[in-house]
Amino acid sequence: MNFQSVKGFRDFYPEQMAVRNHICDAWRRVSVRNGFVEYDGPMLEYLDLFRVKSGDEIVSQLFSLTDRGGRELALCPEITPTLARMVNAKVSSLPRPIKWFCVPHLCRAENPQRGRGREFFQWNADVVGSDEPLADAECVFTLVDLLAEVGLSPGDATVRLASRALLVAGLAAVGVPADKVAAILPILDKRDKLPPEAFEETCAKAGLNADQAGRISRFQDAPTLDEAVGQVGATDAVLAAKRDISQVMQLLAAMGAGEYCRLDLRVVRGLAYYTGVVYEAFDAERSLRALAGGGRYDNLLEALGGPKLGATGFGMGDIVLGILLADKGKLPDLTERCDCFVIDAGEGMFDAALGIVAELRRAGISTGFSYKRQAVAKQFKAASQRGAAKAIVVGQELTQANEVVVKDLAAGEQRRVRRDQLLNELKR
Ligand code: HAM
Repeated sequence: MNFQSVKGFRDFYPEQMAVRNHICDAWRRVSVRNGFVEYDGPMLEYLDLFRVKSGDEIVSQLFSLTDRGGRELALCPEITPTLARMVNAKVSSLPRPIKWFCVPHLCRAENPQRGRGREFFQWNADVVGSDEPLADAECVFTLVDLLAEVGLSPGDATVRLASRALLVAGLAAVGVPADKVAAILPILDKRDKLPPEAFEETCAKAGLNADQAGRISRFQDAPTLDEAVGQVGATDAVLAAKRDISQVMQLLAAMGAGEYCRLDLRVVRGLAYYTGVVYEAFDAERSLRALAGGGRYDNLLEALGGPKLGATGFGMGDIVLGILLADKGKLPDLTERCDCFVIDAGEGMFDAALGIVAELRRAGISTGFSYKRQAVAKQFKAASQRGAAKAIVVGQELTQANEVVVKDLAAGEQRRVRRDQLLNELKR
C-alpha cells in the first residue's frame, strides 16, 4: 500500500519545519514586545459557535463531525469565536483591556491553491474591552511591526484599511434597506473576483439597483475618504464612521507605520462579525492571496452570550507569508548547525570523547559526534556536514598532557586546551 498525506494537509520535513519555526518565533517575539500575552483554545468546538456570527462562507468550509454522543463538533477554522467564548466565561475577573495573542493550527475545507491549504497556522492578536481607535491602531501597528521584523518593506507588503461601518452607512445612505445588507456585503467582498456584468447581476439579485451598485462601486474605488463620502452622501452615520477610520490612520502615522498603510475601501472582509475598521495585508504586487486580515468586531461577545464589549484584532496565516518570504529572498539561512563536534582520535579514546560530548551538551552547547568509530578524516567530514563551528579532537594529547585539540573549522586554526579548561574556553 502506498499512503499519501491528506489533500491540503502538509508534512513538515525539517526544512519546512525550520521555516515554520522562523515565522512562529517572529510572531511570538512581535506579540510580546507589543504587550500581548499568549493564550490557546481547544482544536474542537461545538459547531454552533461558528454558526452564530462567522458567516456562511466559513460555515461551508468547516471540517465537522458528530461525536459518539451525537454532538455536532467542528475543527476550528478560526480562533476569534473561541476567544470570545473564553473571555465571556471569565469576563468579570479579566483586567481590561485584554490583549491576547495565540498561534492556533486551524482547518478549513477550502479548495487548496497557492497560499491556501486545508490546514494552516494562524497568528492572532486581539484587544478586547476597548472601543478606542487606539486599540485598532495598536493591532495594525503590531501587524506592521511583524512585516518589518521578517524583513518586508512597504515596497514588499502593505496593509489596506477600510471600514465595515462606513460601508454599511454608505449602503444605507444610497437607500439599501438594513435587512439586505448582510447579503450584499459578501458580494462587495468578492467584487474584484467577478467580471463587471456578473457583479451587476449578482447585485440586482440581492436587491441593489444599477444606480446603487454604481455609487457603491465608486465609493469603494475612491482614493480618499472625502471622495468616498461624496459618492454616497454625508449622513451622520457616514461621518461618524469616517471619523473613526481617519483617527486610526492618523494614529498609525504618528506611530511611524503610515508608510505600510493605505486606504482601500474595496476591503470588506469575508467574516460576518466585523463592525468597524477592517483591513487586509497584501503583497505589493497583489500576486498572492491575503497575508492577514482583521478588524473591529464589537457585537461578537454579546452575540455569544456575553456583555457588549468592544473588540478588535487580526489573523495572519503562515502559508502566504512563507511564500512571500521565499519569493523575496527574505528567508535567512535556516540550516541547523551544531556548535561543536567531538572527534575521537585513536584506540580507547571514545569514552573520554563521550564524556566531553555530555559535558558540553549539559552546558547548553549543541554538540555532535559520530556513531561509527572511524578515521579522523571521516569524522572531520561529518563535522563539516553538520556545520559545526569547532571540532574537539580527543587523542593522545589527553593521555599525555591532559589536553584536547580545539579546531576552528572556518578559520582552520587549532590550539591545545587543558581538558579541565575546555568548557570555560568554549564559553568565552
Ligand atoms: P481570515 O481573513 O479568515 O480572518 O484569515 C486571516 C488570515 O489567515 C488570512 O489572511 C490568511 O493569511 C490565513 N488563512 C485563512 N484561511 C487560510 C487557508 N485556508 N489557508 C492558509 N491560510 C489561510 C480570520 O480568521 C479572523 N478570525 C481574523 C481575526 C482575528 N479577526 C479578528 N481577530
